[in-house]
Amino acid sequence: MKPIATLTLSPSLDSATETDALYPEGKLRCTAPRFEPGGGGINVARAIRMLGGQATAIYPAGGPTGEHLTQLLRHEGLEVGVVSTLDWTRQNLHVFARQSGEQYRFVMPGACLHDEEIHALRQRVASLPEGALLVISGSLPPGMDVADLVDLVVFARQNRLQCVVDSSGPALEAVVKEGGLLLIKPNRKELAALTGQPLETLEQVALAARALIQRDVTRYVVVSLGAEGALAVSREQQVLATPPQVKALSTVGAGDSMVAALTLKLAERASLEEMLRWGVAAGTAATLRHGTQLCDPVATAELVTQVHVGR
Ligand SMILES: Nc1ncnc2c1ncn2[C@@H]1O[C@H](COP(=O)(O)OP(=O)(O)OP(=O)(O)O)[C@@H](O)[C@H]1O
Ligand SMILES: [Mg+2]
Repeated sequence: MKPIATLTLSPSLDSATETDALYPEGKLRCTAPRFEPGGGGINVARAIRMLGGQATAIYPAGGPTGEHLTQLLRHEGLEVGVVSTLDWTRQNLHVFARQSGEQYRFVMPGACLHDEEIHALRQRVASLPEGALLVISGSLPPGMDVADLVDLVVFARQNRLQCVVDSSGPALEAVVKEGGLLLIKPNRKELAALTGQPLETLEQVALAARALIQRDVTRYVVVSLGAEGALAVSREQQVLATPPQVKALSTVGAGDSMVAALTLKLAERASLEEMLRWGVAAGTAATLRHGTQLCDPVATAELVTQVHVGR
């Protein structure tokens, strides 16, 4: 089993609460908040642990909010690699409005990263063992631009790490241009934006994914297709995995759960088909749970046997 680490550049301390309804001016009486860790890579590491693996979560954290975040992760038994920052870790707010059944998610800007802090994060990455998998997932905070991210990816590769990237927009575009990745997991929309094509049919999705493989950008492309499952492409193979029909409660956390399972199976040197089967199962398992909750391991294992695999 290869060691796994995840990198979250813009983590958050999320608080979730409930109120009757949202309206202006008056006081909105809320229930006592529940605190949860937030951020792409952090959630991937948590889901890997839920699925029986182990991953180190590397992230910047500052102030009391940062300490609270680290406490929550340590409490879950997660191994952490924290870089202290001057800026306080951001705090997001999720409000469930009981009367309408709507979920509001207030997302703050990430804590600013200074040059020395970015340097310290690179040192954390450099301390990972050769051959480890590094998952880079989540948004970029203020103070860090796309070039800094590309530098980090190049640096990781020079340190013989294999990068799994779940990103979008200009960040994904820049990282793909640099190449040398192990796996990318765009959803259909992200892949369409990346390739500048509409990608309406599955054949168009497959063509776009294969083009990336042919350009040697990455060893694997997994395109997630929501309820339709996902398509995985490598130089040798193409596999389409479809989950059974389920009643999805919340799709929040589906992408992170999928990336967690894909990475865990890569670390275990599973086949492309096995990897995709688990990725789709974990993504779908996350949709069976309310709110931001990640994949349940029992539901994931059950779904693995129900995922239909074709080409
Ligand atoms: N409605 C659904 N029903 C069943 N499975 C789903 C549904 N939505 C998502 N999934 C599962 O989760 C996986 C990832 O979902 P999706 O393609 O929506 O990723 P994403 O857009 O990256 O998600 P996120 O918004 O979390 O970043 C899918 O491949 C599928 O296995
Ligand atoms: Mg996603």
